[in-house]
Amino acid sequence: MATAIADIEVIPLSDACGAEIRGVDLTKPLDGKTLKSIEQAWYDHLVIVFRDQDISNEDQVRFCRYFGDLEDVRTGKFANEEMRHTMMITNVTDTGFQTALENGDMWFHSDQCYYEFPCRASTLYAIEIPKVGGNTLFANCYAAWETLPASLREKLDGLKARNIYDYAGNPLKRGDNIDPDAPQYDHPVARTHPETGRKALYVNRLMTDIIHELSEQESDETLQKLFEHSEKPEFTYEHVWQVGDLVMWDNRCSMHARTDFDPGERRMMRRITVKGEDVR
Ligand code: OGA
Ligand code: MN
Repeated sequence: MATAIADIEVIPLSDACGAEIRGVDLTKPLDGKTLKSIEQAWYDHLVIVFRDQDISNEDQVRFCRYFGDLEDVRTGKFANEEMRHTMMITNVTDTGFQTALENGDMWFHSDQCYYEFPCRASTLYAIEIPKVGGNTLFANCYAAWETLPASLREKLDGLKARNIYDYAGNPLKRGDNIDPDAPQYDHPVARTHPETGRKALYVNRLMTDIIHELSEQESDETLQKLFEHSEKPEFTYEHVWQVGDLVMWDNRCSMHARTDFDPGERRMMRRITVKGEDVR
């Protein structure tokens, strides 16, 4: 039941990444041509934003399915079949949904980089937002990689880094107290995007612990340098949320972070992710 939809408009949101897509109503199924244009905009801009969408969980599921199979929620516990892929990212405790309780800021990261097959796409739909802050920053990791000195790229290309889901486990805070049972996986420092063929820097401040093949000291210094480089404003777009925004980002070539907000205010995002492929 494809609906006829006029050509979409793609409006870049920054020099780094991000584009708003206009002319799409996500409560309706998308036709093949519209979908192709959306997919191309996603590859070109890494992060796509649809404003003023009044979508149900089912609508978000349908949209995400165009991009691949969906992840089940990590806990494996969901209220009903319809919610098996859905997680609320929120600081609100009285929802009755499966939630990831999150308050305040969050450092740059790429979703599930600690798994063998990290999700390729993540979507967030804004249901409640604080008056100020709680913005999401997105960084273009192609640009971060491509602007490194050639000698450093040569040195790092082919090396692997360990990513750990233990937020105390990064080189800045690590100490000796990493949880050995925390989910973790080694991935290339520069990964190649399977659709665009471009390389993107794939280390992040929140979860990357060490670059193998380097001494611990050199790894710490190199990671620190890479974090500072990749988080520069020239590589980032800051998304200031409005209720009704649906944002989808590509975890293969971008990372994201959240700015602080007043814990007394409510923030609720509906999150669904699309399964990824092999990381090479
Ligand atoms: C996520 C995430 C950031 C935010 O859902 O993976 O990092 O702004 N969210 O809530
Ligand atoms: Mn995330």
